[in-house]
Amino acid sequence: MKLVIGGSTGFVAAELIRQGLKNPAISSIVALGRRETPAPLEAGPAAAKLKSIVCEDFESYSDSVKKELEGADAAIWTIAVTPMKLSTIPFEETCKISRDYAITAIKTLDELHHQKDRPLRFIYMSGHFAPRSVAEVPKELQNHGLINYGLLRGEAETQILAYGEQSKGAVQSAVVKPGLIDSPERETREIPGLPHIDLPVIAAALLDQVTNGFEKDTLSNADLVRIGQKALEG
Ligand SMILES: NC(=O)c1ccc[n+]([C@@H]2O[C@H](COP(=O)([O-])OP(=O)(O)OC[C@H]3O[C@@H](n4cnc5c(N)ncnc54)[C@H](OP(=O)(O)O)[C@@H]3O)[C@@H](O)[C@H]2O)c1
Repeated sequence: MKLVIGGSTGFVAAELIRQGLKNPAISSIVALGRRETPAPLEAGPAAAKLKSIVCEDFESYSDSVKKELEGADAAIWTIAVTPMKLSTIPFEETCKISRDYAITAIKTLDELHHQKDRPLRFIYMSGHFAPRSVAEVPKELQNHGLINYGLLRGEAETQILAYGEQSKGAVQSAVVKPGLIDSPERETREIPGLPHIDLPVIAAALLDQVTNGFEKDTLSNADLVRIGQKALEG
């Protein structure tokens, strides 16, 4: 399997790359980022499976970037403005980065996916509280002034899932909705109402789902813990 990781220089992506390089079901990883993605220090010869691709424009890919994405079997999309960085970026820009870049990615990868015998699998990483309608807005978003941000992420989820549904089987899309992702290298945070998941567990769950197929189109934090723990035990 040729796997694309969008946002390959990020926190989750680093663990996806670490585990993905050891996964025999994954033959190559295209690390797509706005800057170079280094191979993990401990990767050894498996680092040859990783190709770092720097993308200048996530709304319109250059021919050279498209060439690298040609024939990808799956993608895990991690690019978004995270809540911590919201105040530093105009909301219009946040919409572009967190929603529109993902839509451009799924469309482009679909155009470049020529394998008629199997669908393209695309995972959009969202968050636990992202509601898909105003009626679903949880009080936690209201309390933190994050209603518009939550709805934006929910809108991205809806568009990604609709793309898969309308593709007549050519694309399978899925959305994952983790809570707080913990790592020994980061201080553990507590936000009332938000569940936790360990970084290796979520990475294992995401890799399991792109390689073995989606259990369902929307995976909750609890689903990801269950799938990831089982994959790590295996
Ligand atoms: N971390 C958590 O606890 C958590 C919890 C729930 C959901 N999530 C979701 O999971 C996903 C990944 O989270 P993460 O913690 O791994 O995020 P992260 O460390 O901030 O990584 C985000 C990635 O997106 C890239 N990116 C950001 N702005 C960009 C832009 N304008 N153009 C191109 N690339 C851009 C970053 O590039 P640079 O490295 O160059 O900045 C990085 O590669 C996000 O959708 C996040 O909302 C995370």
